[in-house]
Amino acid sequence: MNDSHLILGVDIGGTSIKAAVVDTRKGSLATTVARIKTPQPATPKAVVAALAELSARLKWRGPVGVGFPGLIKQGVVRRAPNLDPGWVRHEIVNHLQRVLGVPLVAVGNDADAAGLAEARYGAGRGVRGTVVLVTLGTGIGSAVLHNGSLLPDTELGHLEIGGQDAELFASTLARERNKWTWEQWGRNVDRYLTVLEYMLAPDLFIIGGGVSAEPERFFRHLENVECKIVPATMGNDAGIVGAALFAVPGVKALARRRQRGVK
Ligand code: BGC
Repeated sequence: MNDSHLILGVDIGGTSIKAAVVDTRKGSLATTVARIKTPQPATPKAVVAALAELSARLKWRGPVGVGFPGLIKQGVVRRAPNLDPGWVRHEIVNHLQRVLGVPLVAVGNDADAAGLAEARYGAGRGVRGTVVLVTLGTGIGSAVLHNGSLLPDTELGHLEIGGQDAELFASTLARERNKWTWEQWGRNVDRYLTVLEYMLAPDLFIIGGGVSAEPERFFRHLENVECKIVPATMGNDAGIVGAALFAVPGVKALARRRQRGVK
Protein backbone atom coordinates (compact mmCIF):
# COMPACT_ATOMS: atom_id res chain seq x y z
CA MET A 1 0.00 0.00 0.00
CA ASN A 2 1.30 3.49 -0.84
CA ASP A 3 0.83 5.62 2.24
CA SER A 4 3.04 8.56 1.21
CA HIS A 5 0.08 10.84 2.00
CA LEU A 6 0.46 10.06 5.71
CA ILE A 7 2.66 12.62 7.48
CA LEU A 8 3.17 13.35 11.17
CA GLY A 9 1.99 16.90 11.93
CA VAL A 10 3.35 18.61 15.05
CA ASP A 11 2.15 21.90 16.53
CA ILE A 12 4.58 23.51 18.97
CA GLY A 13 2.64 25.82 21.28
CA GLY A 14 3.55 27.85 24.36
CA THR A 15 1.69 25.50 26.73
CA SER A 16 1.57 22.17 24.90
CA ILE A 17 3.04 20.35 21.93
CA LYS A 18 0.52 18.32 19.95
CA ALA A 19 1.09 15.68 17.27
CA ALA A 20 -0.95 13.32 15.13
CA VAL A 21 -0.54 11.44 11.89
CA VAL A 22 -2.37 13.37 9.17
CA ASP A 23 -3.98 12.11 6.00
CA THR A 24 -2.79 14.95 3.77
CA ARG A 25 -5.16 13.96 0.95
CA LYS A 26 -8.23 14.46 3.10
CA GLY A 27 -6.84 17.09 5.47
CA SER A 28 -7.89 15.04 8.48
CA LEU A 29 -6.26 13.25 11.39
CA ALA A 30 -5.45 9.56 10.91
CA THR A 31 -4.61 8.96 14.59
CA THR A 32 -5.59 10.46 17.93
CA VAL A 33 -3.68 13.55 19.08
CA ALA A 34 -0.68 12.88 21.33
CA ARG A 35 0.20 15.82 23.54
CA ILE A 36 2.86 16.80 26.02
CA LYS A 37 3.41 19.93 28.11
CA THR A 38 5.85 22.37 26.54
CA PRO A 39 9.01 22.03 28.63
CA GLN A 40 9.99 25.08 30.68
CA PRO A 41 12.37 26.59 29.81
CA ALA A 42 11.47 25.71 26.20
CA THR A 43 15.07 25.27 25.05
CA PRO A 44 15.85 23.63 21.68
CA LYS A 45 17.14 20.48 23.39
CA ALA A 46 14.09 20.10 25.65
CA VAL A 47 11.54 20.82 22.89
CA VAL A 48 13.22 18.46 20.41
CA ALA A 49 13.29 15.73 23.09
CA ALA A 50 9.55 16.31 23.64
CA LEU A 51 8.93 15.90 19.90
CA ALA A 52 10.93 12.66 19.89
CA GLU A 53 8.80 11.40 22.78
CA LEU A 54 5.58 12.19 20.87
CA SER A 55 6.74 10.51 17.66
CA ALA A 56 7.83 7.45 19.68
CA ARG A 57 4.40 7.32 21.32
CA LEU A 58 2.80 7.30 17.88
CA LYS A 59 5.46 4.77 16.66
CA TRP A 60 6.17 7.07 13.74
CA ARG A 61 9.14 6.60 11.35
CA GLY A 62 7.90 8.57 8.34
CA PRO A 63 8.07 12.23 7.24
CA VAL A 64 7.33 14.98 9.75
CA GLY A 65 5.95 18.52 9.36
CA VAL A 66 6.25 21.01 12.21
CA GLY A 67 4.51 24.31 12.96
CA PHE A 68 6.82 26.54 14.99
CA PRO A 69 5.83 29.77 16.83
CA GLY A 70 8.39 31.99 15.15
CA LEU A 71 10.19 32.84 11.95
CA ILE A 72 12.27 30.19 10.17
CA LYS A 73 14.31 30.70 7.04
CA GLN A 74 16.26 27.92 5.29
CA GLY A 75 15.81 25.61 8.25
CA VAL A 76 17.19 28.13 10.74
CA VAL A 77 15.19 29.94 13.44
CA ARG A 78 15.40 33.71 13.05
CA ARG A 79 12.96 34.79 15.77
CA ALA A 80 10.93 33.02 18.44
CA PRO A 81 9.60 35.82 20.67
CA ASN A 82 7.57 33.55 22.95
CA LEU A 83 10.06 30.70 23.40
CA ASP A 84 13.53 30.41 24.91
CA PRO A 85 16.10 32.87 23.42
CA GLY A 86 18.37 29.86 22.72
CA TRP A 87 16.27 29.19 19.59
CA VAL A 88 17.61 32.17 17.69
CA ARG A 89 19.98 31.00 14.92
CA HIS A 90 19.28 27.38 15.85
CA GLU A 91 19.34 24.88 12.94
CA ILE A 92 15.98 23.39 13.79
CA VAL A 93 15.58 21.21 10.69
CA ASN A 94 19.01 19.55 11.04
CA HIS A 95 18.50 19.06 14.76
CA LEU A 96 15.10 17.38 14.31
CA GLN A 97 16.33 15.21 11.46
CA ARG A 98 19.25 14.00 13.54
CA VAL A 99 17.20 13.21 16.65
CA LEU A 100 14.09 11.81 14.96
CA GLY A 101 16.05 9.87 12.31
CA VAL A 102 13.23 10.16 9.77
CA PRO A 103 13.52 10.63 5.97
CA LEU A 104 12.19 14.18 5.92
CA VAL A 105 11.46 17.06 8.27
CA ALA A 106 9.84 20.32 7.14
CA VAL A 107 9.32 23.22 9.53
CA GLY A 108 7.26 26.38 9.03
CA ASN A 109 5.44 29.04 11.01
CA ASP A 110 2.55 27.89 13.24
CA ALA A 111 0.07 30.51 12.00
CA ASP A 112 0.93 29.70 8.38
CA ALA A 113 0.15 26.06 9.19
CA ALA A 114 -3.25 26.97 10.65
CA GLY A 115 -3.94 29.31 7.72
CA LEU A 116 -3.13 26.66 5.10
CA ALA A 117 -5.38 24.12 6.82
CA GLU A 118 -8.29 26.52 7.39
CA ALA A 119 -8.07 27.85 3.82
CA ARG A 120 -8.11 24.36 2.34
CA TYR A 121 -10.35 22.41 4.67
CA GLY A 122 -11.93 24.81 7.17
CA ALA A 123 -13.46 28.29 7.39
CA GLY A 124 -11.79 29.54 4.18
CA ARG A 125 -12.63 26.57 2.00
CA GLY A 126 -13.60 27.61 -1.52
CA VAL A 127 -13.07 31.33 -0.84
CA ARG A 128 -11.47 33.22 -3.75
CA GLY A 129 -9.41 36.35 -3.23
CA THR A 130 -7.39 37.29 -0.15
CA VAL A 131 -7.91 35.43 3.11
CA VAL A 132 -6.13 36.62 6.25
CA LEU A 133 -6.02 34.33 9.26
CA VAL A 134 -5.01 35.84 12.57
CA THR A 135 -4.33 33.60 15.58
CA LEU A 136 -4.90 35.30 18.91
CA GLY A 137 -3.07 33.53 21.74
CA THR A 138 0.14 34.03 23.73
CA GLY A 139 1.33 35.87 20.65
CA ILE A 140 -0.43 36.93 17.46
CA GLY A 141 0.28 34.92 14.34
CA SER A 142 -0.77 35.72 10.79
CA ALA A 143 -1.26 33.86 7.53
CA VAL A 144 -2.02 35.61 4.24
CA LEU A 145 -3.42 33.57 1.35
CA HIS A 146 -4.53 34.55 -2.11
CA ASN A 147 -6.72 32.08 -4.01
CA GLY A 148 -5.44 29.40 -1.65
CA SER A 149 -1.71 30.17 -2.12
CA LEU A 150 0.20 31.20 0.98
CA LEU A 151 2.50 34.20 1.24
CA PRO A 152 4.66 32.72 4.03
CA ASP A 153 6.22 34.31 7.12
CA THR A 154 4.19 37.52 7.31
CA GLU A 155 4.57 38.10 11.11
CA LEU A 156 1.80 40.71 11.17
CA GLY A 157 1.28 40.21 14.90
CA HIS A 158 4.21 42.55 15.40
CA LEU A 159 2.73 45.41 13.43
CA GLU A 160 3.36 48.57 15.40
CA ILE A 161 0.18 50.55 15.98
CA GLY A 162 0.18 53.74 18.05
CA GLY A 163 3.81 53.01 18.97
CA GLN A 164 2.95 49.56 20.33
CA ASP A 165 3.54 46.06 19.03
CA ALA A 166 0.03 44.68 18.31
CA GLU A 167 0.75 41.62 20.47
CA LEU A 168 0.89 43.87 23.50
CA PHE A 169 -2.74 44.98 23.18
CA ALA A 170 -4.59 42.45 20.99
CA SER A 171 -3.29 39.01 22.06
CA THR A 172 -5.13 36.77 24.50
CA LEU A 173 -2.17 37.06 26.83
CA ALA A 174 -2.54 40.86 26.83
CA ARG A 175 -6.24 40.50 27.77
CA GLU A 176 -5.37 38.19 30.67
CA ARG A 177 -2.37 40.18 31.91
CA ASN A 178 -4.23 43.49 31.86
CA LYS A 179 -7.47 41.96 33.17
CA TRP A 180 -9.38 43.65 30.34
CA THR A 181 -13.06 42.88 29.84
CA TRP A 182 -13.99 41.13 26.59
CA GLU A 183 -15.37 44.44 25.37
CA GLN A 184 -12.16 46.38 26.12
CA TRP A 185 -10.08 43.72 24.47
CA GLY A 186 -12.54 43.30 21.59
CA ARG A 187 -12.15 47.00 20.78
CA ASN A 188 -8.37 46.55 20.69
CA VAL A 189 -8.72 43.61 18.33
CA ASP A 190 -11.06 45.77 16.20
CA ARG A 191 -8.40 48.46 16.00
CA TYR A 192 -5.77 45.94 15.00
CA LEU A 193 -7.93 44.28 12.34
CA THR A 194 -8.94 47.67 10.94
CA VAL A 195 -5.28 48.48 10.26
CA LEU A 196 -4.73 45.06 8.69
CA GLU A 197 -7.81 45.57 6.53
CA TYR A 198 -6.59 48.95 5.35
CA MET A 199 -3.28 47.42 4.28
CA LEU A 200 -4.29 44.07 2.82
CA ALA A 201 -7.90 44.55 1.66
CA PRO A 202 -8.85 40.98 2.55
CA ASP A 203 -12.06 39.31 1.38
CA LEU A 204 -12.23 37.28 4.56
CA PHE A 205 -10.70 37.39 8.04
CA ILE A 206 -10.47 34.11 9.95
CA ILE A 207 -9.86 34.39 13.69
CA GLY A 208 -7.94 31.43 15.10
CA GLY A 209 -6.47 30.52 18.49
CA GLY A 210 -8.37 29.34 21.58
CA VAL A 211 -10.77 32.32 21.39
CA SER A 212 -12.17 31.01 18.09
CA ALA A 213 -14.28 28.69 20.26
CA GLU A 214 -16.08 31.65 21.89
CA PRO A 215 -16.71 34.27 19.17
CA GLU A 216 -19.92 35.37 20.92
CA ARG A 217 -17.77 37.03 23.60
CA PHE A 218 -16.04 39.54 21.33
CA PHE A 219 -17.09 39.41 17.66
CA ARG A 220 -19.79 42.03 18.27
CA HIS A 221 -17.08 44.53 19.25
CA LEU A 222 -15.33 44.19 15.88
CA GLU A 223 -17.46 47.05 14.60
CA ASN A 224 -15.15 48.94 12.32
CA VAL A 225 -13.99 46.08 10.16
CA GLU A 226 -15.84 46.02 6.86
CA CYS A 227 -14.93 42.63 5.48
CA LYS A 228 -16.46 39.37 6.66
CA ILE A 229 -14.96 37.88 9.85
CA VAL A 230 -15.46 34.26 10.83
CA PRO A 231 -14.00 32.06 13.56
CA ALA A 232 -11.68 29.22 12.55
CA THR A 233 -13.56 25.94 12.41
CA MET A 234 -10.86 23.29 12.78
CA GLY A 235 -9.81 24.09 16.36
CA ASN A 236 -6.54 22.47 17.42
CA ASP A 237 -6.51 20.26 14.35
CA ALA A 238 -5.68 23.19 12.03
CA GLY A 239 -2.14 23.62 13.38
CA ILE A 240 -1.46 19.88 13.16
CA VAL A 241 -2.96 19.34 9.70
CA GLY A 242 -1.24 22.45 8.29
CA ALA A 243 2.11 21.42 9.78
CA ALA A 244 1.87 18.10 7.96
CA LEU A 245 1.07 19.96 4.72
CA PHE A 246 4.47 21.72 4.98
CA ALA A 247 6.13 18.35 4.30
CA VAL A 248 4.05 17.44 1.21
CA PRO A 249 6.35 19.07 -1.43
CA GLY A 250 9.42 17.38 0.12
CA VAL A 251 7.69 14.00 0.20
CA LYS A 252 6.74 14.37 -3.48
CA ALA A 253 10.30 15.36 -4.42
CA LEU A 254 11.67 12.31 -2.54
CA ALA A 255 9.24 10.02 -4.37
CA ARG A 256 10.32 11.44 -7.76
CA ARG A 257 13.99 10.90 -6.90
CA ARG A 258 13.28 7.33 -5.84
CA GLN A 259 11.42 6.70 -9.11
CA ARG A 260 14.46 7.88 -11.05
CA GLY A 261 16.64 5.58 -8.94
CA VAL A 262 18.53 8.47 -7.28
CA LYS A 263 19.48 7.70 -3.69
C1 BGC B 1 5.47 35.01 16.50
C2 BGC B 1 4.84 34.35 15.28
C3 BGC B 1 3.86 33.29 15.73
C4 BGC B 1 2.86 33.86 16.72
C5 BGC B 1 1.90 32.83 17.24
C6 BGC B 1 4.39 35.52 17.41
O1 BGC B 1 4.98 36.10 18.53
O2 BGC B 1 6.30 36.08 16.09
O3 BGC B 1 5.84 33.78 14.48
O4 BGC B 1 3.18 32.80 14.60
O5 BGC B 1 3.52 34.46 17.80
O6 BGC B 1 2.57 31.78 17.85
